[in-house]
Amino acid sequence: MKTQADLSIEFCGVRFENPFCLSSSPVGNHAEMCARAYDAGWSGIVYKTLGLEKSFKVVIPSPRLNALNVFDKRFIGLQNAEQITDRPIKDNIKDLVWLKKNYPQKVLISSIMGFEDKDWAELAKMSEDAGADILELNFSCPQMAHKTAGHRTGQDFHAVEAFTEIVKKSCKIPVIAKMTPNITDMIPVALAAKRGGADAISAINTIRAITDIDINNFTPLPNIHGHSSPTGFSGPSVKPVAMRFVSELYNSKAINLPVSAIGGIETWIDALHFLLLGATNLQVTTGIMRYGYRIVEDMIEGLSDYMIERNIQSLTQIIGKAAQKIVDPSEFNTRFQVVSVVDEAKCIGCGQCYISCQDGANQAMKFDKQSRKASVDEERCVGCMLCKLVCPVWDCITHKEVDTAKVRHAAIF
Ligand SMILES: Cc1cc2nc3c(=O)[nH]c(=O)nc-3n(C[C@H](O)[C@H](O)[C@H](O)COP(=O)(O)O)c2cc1C
Ligand code: SF4
Ligand code: SF4
Repeated sequence: MKTQADLSIEFCGVRFENPFCLSSSPVGNHAEMCARAYDAGWSGIVYKTLGLEKSFKVVIPSPRLNALNVFDKRFIGLQNAEQITDRPIKDNIKDLVWLKKNYPQKVLISSIMGFEDKDWAELAKMSEDAGADILELNFSCPQMAHKTAGHRTGQDFHAVEAFTEIVKKSCKIPVIAKMTPNITDMIPVALAAKRGGADAISAINTIRAITDIDINNFTPLPNIHGHSSPTGFSGPSVKPVAMRFVSELYNSKAINLPVSAIGGIETWIDALHFLLLGATNLQVTTGIMRYGYRIVEDMIEGLSDYMIERNIQSLTQIIGKAAQKIVDPSEFNTRFQVVSVVDEAKCIGCGQCYISCQDGANQAMKFDKQSRKASVDEERCVGCMLCKLVCPVWDCITHKEVDTAKVRHAAIF
C-alpha cells in the first residue's frame, strides 16, 4: 500500500485532515453534493452563502456563466453572474444539520451574508446551532452589489468591522472574513475585520470582469436578454492576483491572522504555491466546476508525494516559505546581471526570439538566415529573458550571470 504523508492542518483551532475545501458556490449547494465531496476526499466544505429571504429576494439571472477562451485554450477563466443561494433558508439549515450528523469528522463551514445587523446575528446563530464548525462572512460577492451587502460592504471598512463584531457577539465558533479583490489594498479591510474580532481571513472572491462581447449584436457575455454586467471572474486566470493578495495578507505583521487561499486552484502545484505564500487552508470552486470533485485525489497524492520526497513531516514546515522572499521592488539587487544563452543544438530555427527581441526588447538576439540558428550579442543583452519565454523549445534558451562592470548597455546604468 502506498504511504501517504500527514496533510493535516489546524486552521482557526479546527483540525482539517488535509487543507482542501470547497469554496462557497454551486459546488456546495446542498447536502447531497457536499456528501459526495466529503466522500471524494475534501476535508471541509464552505457551504453556498446563506441569506434570509425575508430581507432580500435573490434572483439569479440566466444564462449566468461565460468562459474565457484564449485561442484554442478553453475555460482559462469563468465569469458568473450568480448571487447567494436562492434555496429557502430552512432547507439549507436542514442540510447543514444532516451534514454534521453524517460527517462529524469533516469540517463544515457556513458562509453567510446579511443585509442589516440583525440578519448577520440571526444567520450566525442558526449556522452554529445547525452544527457549523466555522463561519465565513461573505463581504465580497460582486453580484450582490447592494449598498449593505456584497463587495460594496467589503470596500467599507466600518461596515466590515461592525458586521464582524455583531457576528462574533452572536456565536462562539471561529469566524473567517472573506475579502473582495475589487479593491486596491486589502490590508485596511482585513484589519477592520480583525478589529471586529475575525479569527482568519479568506481571499479572494471573484474579480469584476467582462470576458467577451458578441461582435454581431454588440452585447457583452453572458448576454442576459440583451444586457450584461462586469461580474465575478474566477479560475486559473485569477490565480496570480490571488497569490499577490494572499502573500500580502500573510506578510502583514499588523494582520497576523491565518489565511485561507482561494483563486484558480486546480492542481497540487497550485495548492503548494498558496501554502508557500502563507495559506493554511485552501478553497476551490472553478476547478471543481470544470473537472469534478475527483481533482482532490490528485491534489492529495501530489502534495503527499512532494512531502515524502523532501522528508517534510508537516505542512507547517513549508507554509509561508516563499512569502518570506517577497520584498519591495526598491530592495532588489540591481547589480545582479544576467544575459541569455542559446543552446544551438536545441534551436529549431523558428526565429521567434529574434522577432521578440527586435520589437519588444533590446535588439540583442541575432539570427543567421543561412544556418537558421539564433545567438546572443552579450554586450546588448539586458537579460530581460523575453526570448526564453517565447522560445517554443523547452530549455533551449537559459541565462548566465555576467560581471556587471563589463556590461555597457544603458538599461542598468
Ligand atoms: C458560479 C459561482 C458562484 C459563486 N458563489 C459564491 C457564493 O455564493 N459565496 C461566496 O462567498 N463566493 C462565491 N463564489 C466565489 C468562489 O467561492 C471563489 O471565491 C472564487 O470563485 C475563486 O475561486 P476559484 O478560482 O477556485 O473559483 C462563486 C463563484 C462561482 C464561480
Ligand atoms: S534577454 Fe532580452 S535583450 Fe537579451 S536576447 Fe533575450 S530578449 Fe533580447
Ligand atoms: S525561439 Fe528558440 S528555437 Fe526559435 S530561433 Fe530562437 S532559440 Fe531557436
